[in-house]
Amino acid sequence: MRLGVNIDHVATIRQARLDVYPDLLEAAAECFKAGADGITVHLREDRRHIQDADVKALRRAFPGRHLNLEMAAVDVIADIAVKIKPDEVCLVPENRREVTTEGGLDAAGNAARVKAVVKKLQKAGISVSLFINDSPAQVRAAAGTGAEMIELHTGTYAELSDPKRSGYDRAGAKRELKKLFAAAELGRGLGLQVNAGHGLTYDNTAPFARRTDLFAELNIGHNIIARAVFVGLRRAVAEMKRVIVRRRPA
Ligand code: PXP
Repeated sequence: MRLGVNIDHVATIRQARLDVYPDLLEAAAECFKAGADGITVHLREDRRHIQDADVKALRRAFPGRHLNLEMAAVDVIADIAVKIKPDEVCLVPENRREVTTEGGLDAAGNAARVKAVVKKLQKAGISVSLFINDSPAQVRAAAGTGAEMIELHTGTYAELSDPKRSGYDRAGAKRELKKLFAAAELGRGLGLQVNAGHGLTYDNTAPFARRTDLFAELNIGHNIIARAVFVGLRRAVAEMKRVIVRRRPA
């Protein structure tokens, strides 16, 4: 199973001062040295963290490394992706006021729009993933758009599974996990690569790591960057990699 490290929040620190540090390329290099299999960045329409120049620079600096660009299903950003050519684009719903991506893309309700963007990206040689919730209707609709991958939104599971969160509900987390696995099975059956992400932490990721039969890639950001504040980015990524490949700490 591959780990994609989302480094948006390295850019968040930089943009808080509109400065030039911390250096995003240095962050990506640290992630790769620690065993990350790819870098994920979200080019938001409001450019609150990642900038167009960051995506370009990442592509140029690490040509053979997997670059996953998260973006809204809109033409202006798709045109940027077509020029920069990340390996993968993950289409996400975007709402300017949200703190982070809320909910999954409505692939069922916006099939024509999503299909058009998927086609445009694939024509440029980019593989496309749709960030969706775990409802069977969304999985089927995603397959119908021609996208090669889905990324299942694990945010609800994350909220339910953390005893420190107000929404903690152990039984609810188990139920949600079952739904995620069922959606992944359905996706695999429809010929899709299935990824997962959002809200994953050092404590709640293991159940996904055990299902290498279902999941190919996990995209994790905030919890790794938060841990990096105390132990450094390289160690924080290495620790998450150990959770995913289920190695014991050195
Ligand atoms: N996957 C997608 C599609 C996302 O939008 C995000 C958040 O940018 C992530 C994964 C990573 O989520 P987190 O930062 O909570 O690990």
